[in-house]
Amino acid sequence: MSESSRIPGPESAKRVGEEQEWLAPGVQRLATLAGIAMRSGQGVVLEDEDGNSYLDFMAGVCVASLGHSHPRWVSAISQQAARLAVGSFTSEARLNLLKLLASLLPDPLHRVQFYSGGAEAVESAIRLAKAATGKFEVVSFWGGFHGKTGGVLSLIGDPFKRGWGPLTPGSHLVPYADCVRCPLKTSYPGCGLACVDFAREQLRAASLGAVAAVIVEPIQGTAGNVVPPPDWLPAVADLAKELDALLIIDEMITGFGRTGTMFGFEHTDTTPDIMTIGKGFGAGFPVTGVVTSPEISKAEPWSKPSSSSSSYGGNPLASAAALATVETILEEGLVENSRRVGEHMLSRLREMQERRRLVGDVRGKGLLIGVDLVADRATGEPLEAKWTERLYKRCLENGLVVMAYGARVRINPPLVICEEEADAGLDIFEAALAEIEAELT
Ligand SMILES: Cc1ncc(COP(=O)(O)O)c(C=O)c1O
Repeated sequence: MSESSRIPGPESAKRVGEEQEWLAPGVQRLATLAGIAMRSGQGVVLEDEDGNSYLDFMAGVCVASLGHSHPRWVSAISQQAARLAVGSFTSEARLNLLKLLASLLPDPLHRVQFYSGGAEAVESAIRLAKAATGKFEVVSFWGGFHGKTGGVLSLIGDPFKRGWGPLTPGSHLVPYADCVRCPLKTSYPGCGLACVDFAREQLRAASLGAVAAVIVEPIQGTAGNVVPPPDWLPAVADLAKELDALLIIDEMITGFGRTGTMFGFEHTDTTPDIMTIGKGFGAGFPVTGVVTSPEISKAEPWSKPSSSSSSYGGNPLASAAALATVETILEEGLVENSRRVGEHMLSRLREMQERRRLVGDVRGKGLLIGVDLVADRATGEPLEAKWTERLYKRCLENGLVVMAYGARVRINPPLVICEEEADAGLDIFEAALAEIEAELT
């Protein structure tokens, strides 16, 4: 799709170079690696300042559920901004959003509090669980990611948190069901979910008997779109019950159709006590939320006036953006589109796996797809970062943005993608893989 084979082009390079004088380091790695200045987006296509266009398989890390500049979303935000943007008073937009959410959520999950960042919502969910149980320990999973603020850093299940200690006391990390790289070196289903038994034993040894919550992603996003076996989440829910703890399901990535169902937990018969939502919920407007039952939501001090509020949470502008997003997801059948196009992409990737020796495991649900790149299929040794970065850049040069920043490639395009766009992007991906394979021989 790109007219130029040189990325970044001169206009991008000029702007990115100038920005470097002022921008503090630490921004997203993929954006830094690309060195591109983006000008606009329309549907599934992004355009940079040199006029190069890219199919977007990243969607702002699952944020752009409606794609870019969806007319209905643009119009809802413009109209609300012209009327009233700020404040915590009841607004028509917030009332309608709450009613719509209640119609989508299973009983008894009918109480919602809004925020503007994902980590902020997870922080609030943890505070709520502490308030409701009177306990303070939290269990999270290896490979898990829930944000970067002080109260949730300890929940991250990888070395990312190094350098920010001391972390929150009472945090326990246990293995996720990442079966391709099973940390217990067993295999499913013969293992009988040994990772859950391991977690039980680990908590028996390490917990102070005060577990307030078990927090889990139904499919791990940051770890590489990792799909656990279907009986794993119910087993985690049972573990939470045994601990007399609340189950928090973090649907920040998996919510609102991303996995081919409205919420990720719907692939099993598990219902959370508390759920966090964000990213694709606002389609680019920063709006997140904590969802729970009327009973749990009453817990003090969380429920006391101003105890769980925030400056931007659920203001009229945020509510209008989220309302337009969810209405559009429903009216355009985007949950079904995610399931259908996701299945098509998975089957194409599985064919690719036959042809391309660098492709190890391929997995996914809906439009949340993970592809492991391996140096050696027999041992499963991950492909070195220098090659995955090269793959990322070759894809960019040929008109595709894909999250190939490590050996686990994440494919999560906007939910509005059609099969033709999916095929065009996968063709670029395979051609880049073929080039890397040739360079490696
Ligand atoms: C599952 C999950 N929870 C929480 C967060 C944190 O969201 P935010 O970056 O908006 O703070 C993320 C971000 O990637 C996430 O993937």
